[in-house]
Amino acid sequence: MWEIYAGSAERTEAVGRELGELLGPGDFVSLTGELGAGKTTIVRGIASGLAVADTVSSPSFLIIQEYRGKYPVFHGDFYRLGSYQELEDIGWDEYSRRDGVILIEWGNLIPEALPDGRLDIEIRQPLVESGRLLKFIPHGEHYTTVVEELAGKCKSWE
Ligand SMILES: Nc1ncnc2c1ncn2[C@@H]1O[C@H](COP(=O)(O)OP(=O)(O)O)[C@@H](O)[C@H]1O
Ligand SMILES: [Mg+2]
Repeated sequence: MWEIYAGSAERTEAVGRELGELLGPGDFVSLTGELGAGKTTIVRGIASGLAVADTVSSPSFLIIQEYRGKYPVFHGDFYRLGSYQELEDIGWDEYSRRDGVILIEWGNLIPEALPDGRLDIEIRQPLVESGRLLKFIPHGEHYTTVVEELAGKCKSWE
């Protein structure tokens, strides 16, 4: 586990950009945090680090949005989903087969959809400060390495 304090939305996005540069096909990131925590903000940064030029916004109507970057990037939001079944109905299995980078807001709401190997990002607003605490929790060796490298890249910001 590694965490960093981001004092502004720009900083959240910048941390995301550094992370995006480290991700590749088949990678899975699940984002947790209250409404307004900054999940979409960090996804915007991650997408930018993956050379996505499209506008990244909350996928409120579409459950999964697809962007084109260095690899396909799939941006989902499970907030409005009732069950894993609903996700299967929209062809969830296809996404995992397509060798892209998958970024899911509120992934914790449908735990059955989360692979064992993944990166969890938990975002929260500290009580007395206006910024956000970004916590990176790797599951599996690959993501442990990713988080170590991310920490190295962000060292001078801490
Ligand atoms: N580190 C930060 N400090 C202050 N504001 C932030 C930070 N990160 C994000 N925000 C702001 O929080 C608001 C909600 O962000 P958003 O990414 O839409 O949240 P979520 O997707 O979790 O609902 C936006 O106005 C964004 O600019
Ligand atoms: Mg959002």
